[in-house]
Amino acid sequence: MATTFKTGTEVDGMRTACRLASEVLDMLTPHVKAGVTTQHLDKLALDHIVNVQGCVSATVGYAPPGYPPFPASICTSVNHVVCHGIPNDRALKDGDIVNIDVTVIKDGWHGDTSRMFIVGEGSIQARRLVQLTYEAMWKGILRVKPGARLGDIGHAIQSFSESQGFSVVREFCGHGIGRKFHEEPQVLHYGRPGTMDELKPGMTFTIEPMINAGRREIRELGDGWTIVTKDRSLSAQWEHTVLVTDSGYEVLTLSAGSPPPPAFVNG
Ligand code: MF3
Ligand code: CO
Ligand code: CO
Repeated sequence: MATTFKTGTEVDGMRTACRLASEVLDMLTPHVKAGVTTQHLDKLALDHIVNVQGCVSATVGYAPPGYPPFPASICTSVNHVVCHGIPNDRALKDGDIVNIDVTVIKDGWHGDTSRMFIVGEGSIQARRLVQLTYEAMWKGILRVKPGARLGDIGHAIQSFSESQGFSVVREFCGHGIGRKFHEEPQVLHYGRPGTMDELKPGMTFTIEPMINAGRREIRELGDGWTIVTKDRSLSAQWEHTVLVTDSGYEVLTLSAGSPPPPAFVNG
């Protein structure tokens, strides 16, 4: 399937779905604290998605070829879990870092976003990883404009992350998104400037770097979904869905509770 280009009402549909996805994270934020289970967060999210937003969860039952159906409305990836963590009955504890990733469908359009949460204060190393991963995502977003190439995004993320002593997970990437959850193109978080697809207005895709404090190697747990760092080092991830506009980018997964962009992002 080829890259799709959204225009007019299609862009409006994406804007709405993406804002709603971000609002799920806003709703969850005050609940992410020591003692709460990720299963409880999943229940809160699904209830909000279905009964408040009138949306469908894109992840409940999601089963790409070779995967068992995903059982929850959010991915909750704690500490050394890189991505695709399945909510469970373990309580979060002080010092944990957790990524919560949510994808909703509204009127057939998908909105996909994730944020990091630090339970309690967190170690200096954990806070640094979470902050620099956020900045890495934005370094990628800043490259988005017509005529640029996907490799420019990957290079910006990789060079920044590695200059800080962190590593970039290679096996998972951002993706085109629209009426389908995962469309072309693949958006790698590493690469060379001037390579890969050229960006054109109307493209919508995610940028969602997974950055490890230690080595980049990962392994999959026996549940068929959960990805962890092989060396059990901490991993962080942030995700936005963006639109390529005529002059640059529009971040679609923004809402009242979105953290502000880093200081190096101007307007
Ligand atoms: N939301 C994830 C992404 O960013 C995909 C999660 S698929 C699931 O692409 F089934 F694990 F939920
Ligand atoms: Co995604
Ligand atoms: Co996601």
